[in-house]
Amino acid sequence: MLRVQVVHGPNLNMLGLREPNIYGRQTLATIEASLVAEANALGVALDCFQSNSEGALVDCIQAAFGQKDGILINPGAYTHTSVALRDAIAAVGIPTVEVHLSNIHKREAFRHHSYIAAVAVGQICGFGADSYRLGLHALVKHLQDLQPIPAGS
Ligand code: DQA
Repeated sequence: MLRVQVVHGPNLNMLGLREPNIYGRQTLATIEASLVAEANALGVALDCFQSNSEGALVDCIQAAFGQKDGILINPGAYTHTSVALRDAIAAVGIPTVEVHLSNIHKREAFRHHSYIAAVAVGQICGFGADSYRLGLHALVKHLQDLQPIPAGS
């Protein structure tokens, strides 16, 4: 069974209340519940973690080493600032998909650059809460494609 760690960065615990015109009305709990249902249907074991602290997010990524097959991350504002998160993802070498609710490329210029993109398998943004679902599917497909074909098949 594939094991996926979901990581949410700062202020995502405020979803539902926070700038709903940009991020929608769904809470993080609702998004996670849908993701868990999606993961169950895909036969994937999912763990979710949110923190407002950069160090706690680095610790979570490091703890995934040897324990998780993939990471689905919305780094929030740390996307645009954090060399530490980028380095943690590179250090563990776990395939990582970056997601954002909003389309960061059509927002303020400071959101256009992602420190994470260069170490991610890919990035999905702009689909609201659906970005997570699409990201999970993309990650699982990527992980399945990496798995060795059994001998004799
Ligand atoms: C975000 C986009 C970031 O620029 C912002 O700082 C967030 C949320 C998104 O999901 O659209 O906190 O990652």
